[in-house]
Amino acid sequence: MNSCPPFVPICNPPRVTVIGAGNVGSALAQRIIEKDLADVVLLDIVEGRPQGIALDLMEARSVEGHNCHIIGTNDYQDTANSNITVITAGLPRKPGMTRDDLMQTNGKIIIEATQRAIAHSPDSILILVTNPLDVMTYLAWKVSGWPHQRVMGMAGILDSARFQTFIAMELGISPSDVRAMVLGSHGDLMVPLPSYSTVNSIPIAELMDADTIHRLVERTRHGGAEVVGLLKTGGAYYAPASSVCQMIAAILRDESRLLPAASYLQGEYGLDDVFIGVPSRLGCAGVESIHELQLQPCELAALQHSANQVKEKVERAIALFNL
Ligand code: LAC
Repeated sequence: MNSCPPFVPICNPPRVTVIGAGNVGSALAQRIIEKDLADVVLLDIVEGRPQGIALDLMEARSVEGHNCHIIGTNDYQDTANSNITVITAGLPRKPGMTRDDLMQTNGKIIIEATQRAIAHSPDSILILVTNPLDVMTYLAWKVSGWPHQRVMGMAGILDSARFQTFIAMELGISPSDVRAMVLGSHGDLMVPLPSYSTVNSIPIAELMDADTIHRLVERTRHGGAEVVGLLKTGGAYYAPASSVCQMIAAILRDESRLLPAASYLQGEYGLDDVFIGVPSRLGCAGVESIHELQLQPCELAALQHSANQVKEKVERAIALFNL
C-alpha cells in the first residue's frame, strides 16, 4: 500500500472541479455524482451554462438516488481546495480536423485555466482532457510547476476502451471479457498493442486473423474521428467521460490501478521529458509509478516515434507561448 503524501486531505465526500461545461465536462460531472464519487464544481466562462447544468443535475438527484452535490460557476474561487481538477475546456474538432489543429487556441485556454485553477487548489491533482492531449498535458504541467506525478492526461483508457469495443463487436462477445492495451499519443500515431490484448486471458491472435486485427487497430486509431464524422459538430463525450471517471475513482479511492494514462517519462521506454500514454499506476498520490512492458522492437519503435512527434509539438508550443 502506498502512503499518501500530504495533498489536500480527501474529505468525505471529496471535491472534484471540472473546468469546461461542454459535452465532455457535463457528461463527466454527471458520471462523478451519479457514482457518488465526489462533489463537483463545474466551471465555464459562459454565464449560466454551468449553473443550468448543475441545477438540472441537482434536480435529478432524488430520482437517481445519490448524495453528491454539484454547483455551476464562472468564478475560480468556488473551486478552492479541490482534490482533483479536470480540464476539459477548449474547442472540439470539426470533421476533417486533426487534434493538432487545435493547438494554438486550446493551448491559450489551457494555460489560463491551469494558472487560475492551481491558485485556488495548490495541492490538487490535475487531469487533462483537452486536445491535442499529450501536448496540453505537458503545457499544464510546465505552467503548474508541480511534481509530475500530480499531472496526467486521459486518453489511454479511452483508446483502449475503443479497441476493446471493436474486438467484442467483431467476436460477438461481452466487452466485459475483453482487455486491450493502447499506448502512445492520443492521435493517429497511437500504438494499439494486439500482443497485450486478450479475451479472458486468450490472446486475440488465437481468436481472429491478422487482417481482422489490423482492421480493428486502424478503426481504433481513428475512433475519435469516426464519432466526429457522425456527429458533424463536436466530438465524443460519453466514452471520454467514463474514462476520466475511472481515473478519478482510482485516485480518490487510492485503488492503485494499472491503467494507460499520459504520464511523464524519465527514461522509461528510452524516452525522456515527455507526457505519453503508458501503463501508469494510479492512486492517491497521482501517477505512482510507470510500468515498462516488454515490447517487441516494432512496438517500441512505434511508441518512440509517437513520443518524438509529441516532443516536436511541445517544443513548438513552448516557443509559441513563451513558457
Ligand atoms: C476523442 C477525443 C476525446 O478521442 O479526443 O474522442
